[in-house]
Amino acid sequence: MKVLVTGAGGQVGQALQKLAPSCGIDIIALDRQALDITDQSVVRERVREHSPEVVINAAAYTAVDKAEEEVEAAFAINAQGAENLALACAASDIPFLHISTDFVFDGKKEGAYLEDDTAAPLSVYGKSKAEGELRIAAVSQKYIILRTAWVFGGAQNFVSTMLRLAKSHKELNIVDDQIGGPTASDNIAASLLKIAKQVQKAEFQSWGVFHYCGAPAVTWYGFAKTIFEHCADAPVVNPIPTEDYPVPAERPKNSVLDCGKIKQVFGIDQPDWQKALSGILGK
Ligand SMILES: NC(=O)c1ccc[n+]([C@@H]2O[C@H](COP(=O)([O-])OP(=O)(O)OC[C@H]3O[C@@H](n4cnc5c(N)ncnc54)[C@H](OP(=O)(O)O)[C@@H]3O)[C@@H](O)[C@H]2O)c1
Repeated sequence: MKVLVTGAGGQVGQALQKLAPSCGIDIIALDRQALDITDQSVVRERVREHSPEVVINAAAYTAVDKAEEEVEAAFAINAQGAENLALACAASDIPFLHISTDFVFDGKKEGAYLEDDTAAPLSVYGKSKAEGELRIAAVSQKYIILRTAWVFGGAQNFVSTMLRLAKSHKELNIVDDQIGGPTASDNIAASLLKIAKQVQKAEFQSWGVFHYCGAPAVTWYGFAKTIFEHCADAPVVNPIPTEDYPVPAERPKNSVLDCGKIKQVFGIDQPDWQKALSGILGK
C-alpha cells in the first residue's frame, strides 16, 4: 500500500517514515522542500504524479506563540494548505488523513472534549487549525481529522525543552493549571497507519473527526516532574499558575480529549504517555 506523507521532516512525519515498513506500507515522504502545501497546483500535481492510495498531512505551522504575529503564514499553511490537499485528494478520489489539535477548544469545559463539542479557539494557531478543519469538511467527503495534543518524540517539543533547561537550571517554574494528554509522535504515526489501512476498504464509511491523545491526563508541571524522574541531575520543579508565565498565545486550561470514538470505530486504544516517555528516555 502506497501512502504519501507531507511535512515529512516534522515529528509525526518522521515517525511515519520510521514505522511504515513494519506495517507493510510504502511511504512517499515529501518534506517542505519537496512539497510546499500552500502551492495548490504543485499539490495537485504531486498527488497525481505519485498516485498514492492515501495521503497523510503531517505538515503544519506549529509555532504557537509566533503565530500571533505571523497570522498570514499560519492560515496559509494550516487552512489553505489543508484545503489544497483535501481538494487534490477529492479530485483523485482518495482518502485524506489530517492532524488537528486540542487548541481548537477554549478549555472551559469540565471533563474531556468530545469530537462534536464546539470549537472556540483562543489563539491564532488554534483558529488557523480550526479553519483548516472546516475547509477540509467543505471540499471533501473521504477525510479523517485526527485531533491530538502535546506531541513529543521528535526534535523540538516540551520534553526536549525540559531536558535542555535541566542542563542550565537548578530550579524551574512550570505551569500547573493547564491539563492535557501528552502524546508520543510514534503513537500518532502508528494510529494514522492503522487508520490508513482501514479507510482504504470499500465498505469504510465512518469519515470525520476523531480524538487521540495520551493518558493519564496531567498538567505541564506533572509532565515535567515525570520527565525529570529520568534525569540524573534533575532541577527542582515548582508549580505556578498560567498568569505567572506570560506568553503571546493564550492556551486552553483543559486540553483533555475523549478518545472513545477512535476506539469504537478503529479499535485504537488510548496510549500510555508514561510508557512512551520511558521508551524514549531509556528507562
Ligand atoms: N506539536 C504539538 O504539540 C501538536 C499538538 C497538537 C497537534 N499537533 C498537530 O500535529 C501535526 C504534526 O505536528 P508536529 O509536532 O509533527 O509538527 P512539526 O514537528 O512542527 O512538523 C511540521 C512540519 O511541517 C513542515 N511545514 C511547515 N510548513 C510547510 C509547508 N508550507 N509545506 C510543507 N511542509 C511544511 C515543517 O517544516 P519546517 O520545519 O521546514 O517549517 C515541519 O517539518 C500538526 O498538524 C500539528 O498542528 C501538534
